[in-house]
Order: sequence, then structure tokens, then C-alpha cells
Amino acid sequence: MTVEQNDLIMRPISGREELRLFSRLPYALNEELADDLAAGRRRPEWMWVALRGGHLVARAAWWSRPGSDSPLILDVLDIDNASDPDHMDIGERLLRTAMAATLPDGSRPPEYSRFVPPDWRENTSSRRTVESRMAVLERTGARLFVERLRLERRPESPVPESSGRLAFRPHVDTGELVALMALVLDGTLDAHGREALTRMSAREAAVEHCEGELARYTSPREWWRIATLPRGEAVGFVLPAHNGYNAIIAYIAVLPSHRGNGYVDDLLAEGTRILAEQDVPRIRASTDLGNVPMAKAFRRAGYVNFEHEINMTWT
Ligand SMILES: CC(C)(COP(=O)(O)OP(=O)(O)OC[C@H]1O[C@@H](n2cnc3c(N)ncnc32)[C@H](O)[C@@H]1OP(=O)(O)O)[C@@H](O)C(=O)NCCC(=O)NCCS
Repeated sequence: MTVEQNDLIMRPISGREELRLFSRLPYALNEELADDLAAGRRRPEWMWVALRGGHLVARAAWWSRPGSDSPLILDVLDIDNASDPDHMDIGERLLRTAMAATLPDGSRPPEYSRFVPPDWRENTSSRRTVESRMAVLERTGARLFVERLRLERRPESPVPESSGRLAFRPHVDTGELVALMALVLDGTLDAHGREALTRMSAREAAVEHCEGELARYTSPREWWRIATLPRGEAVGFVLPAHNGYNAIIAYIAVLPSHRGNGYVDDLLAEGTRILAEQDVPRIRASTDLGNVPMAKAFRRAGYVNFEHEINMTWT
């Protein structure tokens, strides 16, 4: 499908042979596009370009789980010279055209996710670029949902030590994990968790998380650990995993009645140790900017905040 408006041509790319054209606007994800296409995490018809006189002036693309029929995240939106009002109009036109052609009629558009430098607010040029992209999204009805910290532990940092106060064991079955995942949603500072609780019960939210995000990790579930007190009472859990790109701490939580004792440090030490044993080049994690206790725990364990992530949603 090609849409022509004045001198602007908007269309999806034809296939991997147009990846060079698509990658003319810079973004770290450019390096992953070829593998994503090959693995079915992206489709050419979800990768839109706006061209003027043959030049790439804007682009938008969605990502999904391998083989999935519908896009899961809008993770590419770039506009050349974004702060120019005319270019913001181009960005809006491209996004509206691509959304209409790609997303099912009347459906809620998938979340927007964008990695930005950690100091984007302090740097005038980054701030202008990030804010104009957000303004384009707002024109189509999106609103800021949450800003997240992306964290990384490099192999040279020492593996954090556990205090020895807790014992660790694998989970018995999915039922046990879902029950614990439901309990830790009580009082959570995590925006996605809180939003889920506005739509469904804690148990339903836990099932959705388990069958959705956690189910797509192909790393062994034997890595997952339940932390217990010496007499066997569960205190929390840590779910180390591999997401196809990186080793990650997929989820970590302490039960409400055990919070404030520093147990998060023991859980994070255990999860980090399990992944470090796999000889991985790095371990990644993320948490909301507003989840200060979690962010502090990552910092104490030697994780460095290398990027932020902006999430925007449509209601
Ligand atoms: C984030 C979390 C793992 C921290 O675990 P923790 O073992 O309680 O961490 P800490 O003991 O370091 O306590 C963190 C802070 O919470 C405060 N706190 C104390 N009691 C608390 C309670 N009942 N509930 C919440 N926070 C409490 C502590 O005072 C501490 O503040 P301080 O750093 O200013 O001293 C835990 O709150 C949790 O499971 N939250 C829900 C799930 C979640 O957000 N996971 C992270 C997703 S990325």
C-alpha cells in the first residue's frame, strides 16, 4: 500500500532489501532489524517510511513476538529534523497512515517504547528530539505512561554477595509462582503492575504476566528462584532469564509483609549469580524511574543506568 500526499510518499518497505533505506535515520535498534525480520519479530508491512524526493524524512515500525500476527510495541518513530513544525506534521501524517493500515480497526494501539539517553533532559539537543517525538505521538492521542531506567551489569563488576539470611529453591509449579506474583502486586510501585490492577484482579494480572511476557523467554525455568526464611516461609522471588537479546532479571519482588528488610539485595545477588554463571557478556534489567527502592537496589548491586525508556499509551 502506498499513500501519496503532495510531494510525500508513505509506504511500508518492500523487504530486507530496503533495510538500508529504512536505517538512514540513526537509532541503536537499526543493528537488530535484519535479525528481527529473519526471526519473524518484524514484518516489512509493519515498517513504514515517508519519502520526499527519494529521501527518508520519517519512519515508524512495530515489533512483536516471533511469528505473531499482530504488532506488540511501536518501538521505532524517527523524524528527520524533528523540531521543524513541517517535519512534525510529516511525522504525524506517517504515523496516522501507518497505524490505519497496520492496526485492526478500533483496536487500542500497542504501547510506544523508545530508548533515550539517561541525561536527555539536561542535553538541549536530546531534549528537543525526544520532546518533539512525544509531541507527534500526543497529536495522535498517546500520553506518557511511564519513564523507565534501563540497567546493565558488566562482567567485570564483582558478583554481589548474598547475606546468607535466605535460602533459595526452584519453584514447585506455575501455580505457586502465580500465587506469589499476585501477592507482590499489593503496594507495587511499578506502573504496568498498577495499571493491570485497574483492569483485573491481582491473580488475573499475575496469570497474564506469566502467560504473556514470561512465557516467551526460552531460557530454562530452573533458573527461577523462590527465596525462603530458614523455616521455609517464602519471602520473594527472582526470575533470571534470557530474552533472545540479553540475559535479564525478568522479575524480582519481595512479599509485602517482608519489605523493608533489605531482602531485595539477597534476591538480586542470587539472580545475578545465576546469570553470571552462564558467562553472559552483560546482564540487563529495567525498572520504573519512580520505583526508587528497586533502582537503589540495582545500583547497590553494581548495575549501571545506561539509558532511559519512554513508554506512551493510547486509551
Ligand atoms: C521493590 C522491592 C523489591 C524492594 O524490596 P525490599 O526488600 O523491601 O527493599 P528494601 O528492604 O531495600 O526497602 C526498600 C524501601 O522500602 C521501604 N519499605 C519499608 N517497609 C515497606 C513496606 N512495607 N512496603 C514498601 N516499602 C517499604 C524501606 O523503608 C526502604 O526505604 P529506604 O531505602 O528509604 O530505606 C519491593 O518493594 C517489591 O517487591 N515491590 C513490588 C514489586 C516490584 O516493584 N518489583 C520490581 C519490578 S522491576
